[in-house]
Amino acid sequence: MSFNKKNWVIGLICLTLNFSVTAQGDAKIGKSKTMACMGCHGPTGNSFVPNFPSLAGQPAGYIAKQIRDFKEAGRYNATMTGIALGIADADIDHIGVFYESQVKTPAIKNIAHLKTDEEKTALLTLGKKLYDHGNADTGQAACFVCHGKTGNALVSLDVPILANQHPPYLISTMKEFKNRKRTNDNERVMRRIIDTMTDEQIEAVAYYSSYLVSTLEEKK
Ligand code: HEC
Ligand code: HEC
Repeated sequence: MSFNKKNWVIGLICLTLNFSVTAQGDAKIGKSKTMACMGCHGPTGNSFVPNFPSLAGQPAGYIAKQIRDFKEAGRYNATMTGIALGIADADIDHIGVFYESQVKTPAIKNIAHLKTDEEKTALLTLGKKLYDHGNADTGQAACFVCHGKTGNALVSLDVPILANQHPPYLISTMKEFKNRKRTNDNERVMRRIIDTMTDEQIEAVAYYSSYLVSTLEEKK
């Protein structure tokens, strides 16, 4: 990474930090407000449907920010926006604290559409390269800088965890950063990165980051 690029990323981290607001709430109250969420996100925030993101273990501040963004601006989803509008402002932080307290279980990782082992290995190898090193040709920043080597870091700064998240959800939300359906990333931190990526690279990095901790560790 060149000196300038490194500065760019460090600058973005500082800006992200500036914007993060710690959510303070009560997990018990939060849990009592999530009855309507279970059908899609699971009773403990681990969803069984690959298109519905798991929420378990995500930083409370990240969860709370997303609910506010669905309600106010920057993020729109036909299903979630309607649901978020029904959540009282006073309950948002409690819900975030509840989901952060839950343990994330492994995601559904279905790469059956890739026919051969060679295709699967090629996808994960490309994903690892982009995740760990970025792309010097396009200026894409390495993901680990903010999302962590094992997909778990900078949680204290409310950066979302990618490890064990369902790949179809990761792919769809990354494409939404690209097509500007999702614009709630402060300082365009994710849009600047995703803008440099092809659909193939997005898919590779989504599977690689979802497999972090579990499959890659097991394979060693
Ligand atoms: C009918 C299904 C459904 C229900 C019920 C539902 N959600 Fe969601 N939720 C979704 C979908 C689909 C997304 C992904 C939206 C997108 O791609 O922008 C989502 C996304 C989210 C996210 C963002 C996750 C991330 O990683 O960025 C949060 C937070 C969330 N939901 C909270 C809730 C809460 C709290 C409730 C209950 C009050 C709830 N949801 C009920 C379907 C649902
Ligand atoms: C400079 C820090 C930084 C870097 C580098 C970075 N991200 Fe992010 N990423 C963020 C932040 C902050 C958010 C939360 C944005 C928001 O508030 O919605 C985020 C959100 C995401 C999300 C949405 C998660 C969800 O649950 O909806 C995905 C997916 C993602 N990043 C993937 C990546 C990938 C893949 C890379 C590398 C190609 C990467 N990020 C590099 C900071 C970063």
